[in-house]
Amino acid sequence: MKVTVFGTGYVGLVTGTCLADVGHDVLCVDVDQKKVDNLKNGIIPIFEPGLEPIVKQAVQNGLLNFTTNMDEAVDHGELQFIAVGTPSGEDGSADLQYVVAVAKTIGQRMNGYKAVVNKSTVPIGTAEKVSEALLGELNARGVDVPFDVVSNPEFLKEGAAINDFMKPDRIVVGTNSERAEKLLRELYAPFNRSHDRMIFMDVRSAELTKYAANAMLATKISFINEMANLAEKLGADIEQVRNGIGADPRIGYQFIYPGCGYGGSCFPKDVKAIINIAKNVDYQASLMEAVDRVNHIQKSKLYTYVTKHFGGNLKGKTFALWGLAFKPNTDDMREAPSRVLIEALWAAGAKVQAYDPVAMDETQHIYGLREDLKLVGTKEAALEKADALIICTEWKTFRAPNFELIKSTLLNPVVFDGRNLYEPERMLEYGFDYYAVGRGK
Ligand code: UGA
Repeated sequence: MKVTVFGTGYVGLVTGTCLADVGHDVLCVDVDQKKVDNLKNGIIPIFEPGLEPIVKQAVQNGLLNFTTNMDEAVDHGELQFIAVGTPSGEDGSADLQYVVAVAKTIGQRMNGYKAVVNKSTVPIGTAEKVSEALLGELNARGVDVPFDVVSNPEFLKEGAAINDFMKPDRIVVGTNSERAEKLLRELYAPFNRSHDRMIFMDVRSAELTKYAANAMLATKISFINEMANLAEKLGADIEQVRNGIGADPRIGYQFIYPGCGYGGSCFPKDVKAIINIAKNVDYQASLMEAVDRVNHIQKSKLYTYVTKHFGGNLKGKTFALWGLAFKPNTDDMREAPSRVLIEALWAAGAKVQAYDPVAMDETQHIYGLREDLKLVGTKEAALEKADALIICTEWKTFRAPNFELIKSTLLNPVVFDGRNLYEPERMLEYGFDYYAVGRGK
């Protein structure tokens, strides 16, 4: 099938590439000429394990192409995916200008039926706005061409996006059109083999499903973090509690890992957006507000431990930091807990010596060159002449380090662990002062 994908960001690029990988003829569109040129040469703008070879292969097979030409783009696919950004406004509402601009682009050029598919995470009612924008352009041209606007939210996790796309646990499609339903069934048939994973529903419900899924996951995280904070005060161990509750299949083990807060481009933005969406229909989303508040507190947790340990005096101290990205297997620093920590340490007059397996360029890009930030090439180098070690991301390489080396290199044997990677008893045996989340210190 011929498919056009507007936006070569994270969602658009993964969607376009995976669709091309199973044999569809995909044209990805972006306004950024340099990005398009790079992509044509297999240079991809994001770090996502497994993506680059599939892009290269699909380009080589002639099934994945990139363009900045809007005429060509609209002409290409009967299916037109919108996967452009929806940045958060000041009040947490999603900014739809790029989505609407794509709708207009399509309306200004289409001459035959198109199914316009929304992949971007958009507020409930956006499909109707896209329809209006499209229709406005068609009317202005005086042409009458049929189209459908479909909601098809994505459920990709950064770092596992290829697998999530190739082996989805569900494919949610919101539409009231049989024609569009048939097209999407055909499009996703290669991903829908062993059992039917497609869930069809009305458009508004599909739009809300996306927010509800992320809101639920964020709620699980804030819930366990709140229990961790309580466990700390009550002398209990949250890791034992986690095991105890996870064994109940109604609760499950997934997404109840306590830590220094959730980050990334989705949960923080979507929780804020749903609070805002609720406000607009005169409903106060109290639970979501609490989820957001708990996460805000949690992101300061590591800093609180650090100030407590050093009696509030951090001026002139140097901290080794392991992990900058908001989670492992990505270089994404958006809303990363490490940023809250780093900025608080700087404000207190401390320096940071950091290592991350892939997010160092991104960190440099965000903070530029500064005297109080040293980015080093190995996790061991981060420890040199540092007053303590702080861990923000649970990269595999941090899970079983050489504890003797950590102890002998640090100026003080202190570890602040925002991801509960080690056993407190073992750390005590090694002679560390060990702070973890909800584990009794
Ligand atoms: C999330 C969802 O998991 C995807 O299903 C969704 O498609 C995506 O948002 C999106 O809306 O595009 P992602 O932001 O890539 O995916 O990251 P997650 O793996 O969900 O992790 C989010 C944050 O929660 C990370 O900071 C992680 O460290 C934290 N987390 C996760 C915890 O603190 N505890 C947990 O138990 C799980």
